[in-house]
Amino acid sequence: MKQVRMGIIGTGLRSGIAKHWHQPEGESIITGVADINPENLEKFKEKVTSDCFTTDSYVELLKRDDIDAVAILSPDYLHEEHAVAALKAGKHVYCEKPLAITEAGCDRIMKTAEETGKHLMVGFNMRYMRMFQTMKGIVDSGVIGDIKAVWVRHFVGYGGYFYYHDWHGLSKNTTSLLLQKGSHDIDIIHWIAGAYTKRVSAFGSLSFYGGDKPNDLTCPTCDIRDTCTEASPGTLIECAFREEIDVEDNNVVIMELENGIKASYLQCHFTPDYHRNYTFIGTKGRMENSEPDGKVYVKTRKSNSWEEFSDQTYDIKPAEGGHGGADPVICKEFIDLVLHGKEPIPTPLDGRMSVAVGCAATESIRNNGKVIEVNRPT
Ligand SMILES: NC(=O)c1ccc[n+]([C@@H]2O[C@H](COP(=O)([O-])OP(=O)(O)OC[C@H]3O[C@@H](n4cnc5c(N)ncnc54)[C@H](O)[C@@H]3O)[C@@H](O)[C@H]2O)c1
Repeated sequence: MKQVRMGIIGTGLRSGIAKHWHQPEGESIITGVADINPENLEKFKEKVTSDCFTTDSYVELLKRDDIDAVAILSPDYLHEEHAVAALKAGKHVYCEKPLAITEAGCDRIMKTAEETGKHLMVGFNMRYMRMFQTMKGIVDSGVIGDIKAVWVRHFVGYGGYFYYHDWHGLSKNTTSLLLQKGSHDIDIIHWIAGAYTKRVSAFGSLSFYGGDKPNDLTCPTCDIRDTCTEASPGTLIECAFREEIDVEDNNVVIMELENGIKASYLQCHFTPDYHRNYTFIGTKGRMENSEPDGKVYVKTRKSNSWEEFSDQTYDIKPAEGGHGGADPVICKEFIDLVLHGKEPIPTPLDGRMSVAVGCAATESIRNNGKVIEVNRPT
């Protein structure tokens, strides 16, 4: 095979990455697209390509012989159904994160990939961001010693817009935002710390969004749209204070990793700013990032002393392309996997373990902070 013929399932916001796969003169081309929403299909045709098969049925898409691989960009609760069907239809699969919304769902996808022998890749694009690749390299170099503690603060500014104005706000669609948003961060903790989580406890609540507004209320039709702080600035228009919303917007998760590292992940969806602040503390020093400043700071100290050896600041170079330049790279990684068998950085098990932790933390939150064990697949 010289060129991968790609099908896309789901042409919503995330389908912007499809342009990286549509390279008619290159190693991949989009030959088919499925979405149940005709408007999104039309926009996709305008933005990416109109020269391909389009359908409202992913089943029809999967029947086609001119599709070798499928990117699953549908809502989280459909990933399992779509990934399993695509693998069974003999297609290689790129699946957006979270791999599924339950641990068992991830296991079913992974089992199907094994049985069919088709490639499966998870859309962990944060692993391809320069910021986090730099941090991984620093830890692997040993300069801050053996990692013992990880503290992550996730300020999800604009969280009300992206997560409370559409399907994301309901637990039945996501389990919780600890999978939807947090699966990236839990994965980065696992990756850089070099171990998966073995147990979790968490507290969380719906502290700001949700409420008593009718479920069918939308921003354009709302009487208080001119004064509401959460009035939608874009195309997602369901009321952020509607009654049916049931996913926590304020979460504190503590984790113990298989290698004894203690980690914490704090996620809040009503902050004014939008960034992720990671601290890794090792036996010889500490590393912290600042996304707003584009920097990674490293401080080292003499063992058993207050005396500091040296501080070093890394300037992260800006990169072209969505998500800090990670999107074009992750798309190419999928093509390299299918065409050349080159293994990508994240494995399906990484995808599964971050979902398992997100599910365990959600279970803990909804059971008074009960400690939940996280198991690897049997
Ligand atoms: N890795 C990242 O940085 C990143 C960023 C954004 C979104 N995502 C992931 O991408 C996925 C999609 O997110 P989004 O923001 O594009 O959502 P979205 O709601 O904007 O788009 C989802 C699309 O899927 C379509 N769809 C729904 N049911 C379908 C079906 N049965 N068959 C075919 N299409 C169907 C919808 O009509 C919609 O067009 C999510 O899982 C999300 O977690 C990942």
